[in-house]
Amino acid sequence: MSGKNKLVIFDTTLRDGEQSPGASMTKAEKLRIAKSLEKMKVDVIEAGFAVASQGDFDSVKAIADTVKDSTICSLSRALDKDIDRAAEALAGANSSRIHTFIATSPIHMKYKLQMESEQVVEQAVRAVKRARNYTSDVEFSCEDAGRSEIDFLCRIIEAAIDAGASTINIPDTVGYAIPSQFGDTIKTLLERVPNAGKAIFSVHCHNDLGLAVANSLSAVMNGARQVECTINGLGERAGNASLEEIVMAVRTRKDLFEIQTNVDATHIVPTSRLVSNITGFPVQPNKAIVGANAFAHESGIHQDGILKHRETYEIMSAQDVGWHTNSLVLGKHSGRSAFKNRLEELGIQLETETEINAAFARFKELADKKHEIFDEDLQALVTDAKIPDAVEKFKLVCLSVCSETGVTPKATIILMIDGEEQTATAEGSGPVDATYKAIESIAGSGVNLQLYSVNAITSGTDSQGEVTVRLDLGGRIVNGIGADTDIVIASAKAYIKALNLLSSKPEKQHPQSDV
Ligand code: KIV
Ligand code: ZN
Repeated sequence: MSGKNKLVIFDTTLRDGEQSPGASMTKAEKLRIAKSLEKMKVDVIEAGFAVASQGDFDSVKAIADTVKDSTICSLSRALDKDIDRAAEALAGANSSRIHTFIATSPIHMKYKLQMESEQVVEQAVRAVKRARNYTSDVEFSCEDAGRSEIDFLCRIIEAAIDAGASTINIPDTVGYAIPSQFGDTIKTLLERVPNAGKAIFSVHCHNDLGLAVANSLSAVMNGARQVECTINGLGERAGNASLEEIVMAVRTRKDLFEIQTNVDATHIVPTSRLVSNITGFPVQPNKAIVGANAFAHESGIHQDGILKHRETYEIMSAQDVGWHTNSLVLGKHSGRSAFKNRLEELGIQLETETEINAAFARFKELADKKHEIFDEDLQALVTDAKIPDAVEKFKLVCLSVCSETGVTPKATIILMIDGEEQTATAEGSGPVDATYKAIESIAGSGVNLQLYSVNAITSGTDSQGEVTVRLDLGGRIVNGIGADTDIVIASAKAYIKALNLLSSKPEKQHPQSDV
């Protein structure tokens, strides 16, 4: 594949995706996602923003040390300390990239940076040169390019390429662009920047107007050769362009794009599930490619057509993107090594013997309640298991719920808090409400419940229910997920998990905060 015909897929699920309120991930979780992206043959994985916190640094480092087939990238503002920290975290990578950025729109330069345009160019050049001391693969982004002046973009991009940037990224940071206009911007830049031929032009679109994928594809039509995107479209505010939609659009309409990606699309659905599981952001059923209904044909006419000839109503095959009917993998009599093997096949590596034993014990418990255990059950079971680098302040010991027609539901819960058991009973409008009231009468957290949702993990009434809760405490938002064949217990687990996240995860610096 020549450069002209290759579209570089740059995944930023672990960086921009993690900027979605409540989507923060632990190091172990990020590593699992990074391995899945590597298997999918994503070209570049933006693993984080190394300077943001010790946790971010450790995650970027762990991914750089472990993932060898994709280029590993760290974001850094155009500041020496950011670039040095990114380089330190990336030192163990086979192939590393430093991604440095500064805002270029009049509104950002005036109010956020409080800098003159000349100073912005100088700082950009200095940052690119500093990054080049560490790696030959340097990306420069003009933050808020979607609202920047074209003459200024041409000037700063030319200077950044002269300073050694090999990728130039044009972000539509606030999701303001419209496809035809954004495509024109890319075309103009490629025509007007004198040294444009020495760099790959990239786009990074946000979805505030629901146009992130359309804008990215229009940019590709006009010469962009890298797209920054995320699994399930996760990302700041309304999210980023979704990787699965970009990859499958280019592939399905190769007649128009005449371009290829390296991505092995059969890993799309499993990776989407993994990201959804870990972050607690459910995938809407009608989401393109990865939604549960994306390949479901409800109407009789469609079903008849599909049976006669698949292509009457399908433009892609479900198998090509990794859908397969729930495959029965394990049962009550499966042993520890079968269990461990299957987890490995799913790309899940539990790090310690204690973790494997704990997960296996949960598997046995589940197999007693549910005869058939599917891959989806295993994913949930592992996500539900104790996360190694999260502190568990609250632990569920026991829950009993009374729910009967004509009687007010009542829940009694025993929680272990910092090693001590505490019991509470509460009534509520339903068993979940009663349970949450009982938990709160012990925890007294003062949180605000923003979201409560239940999904069946597999089909059948014996399926595990997966509950997601989103809690807000003084502006800090976390998601907790819990799975169980009993949805009231799953609800309690999810709530307790979110409380634990609130009590353990430190704040970190936002990349787009002031320089
Ligand atoms: O949206 C944006 O502008 C970004 C940059 C840091 C690339 O995320
Ligand atoms: Zn962004």
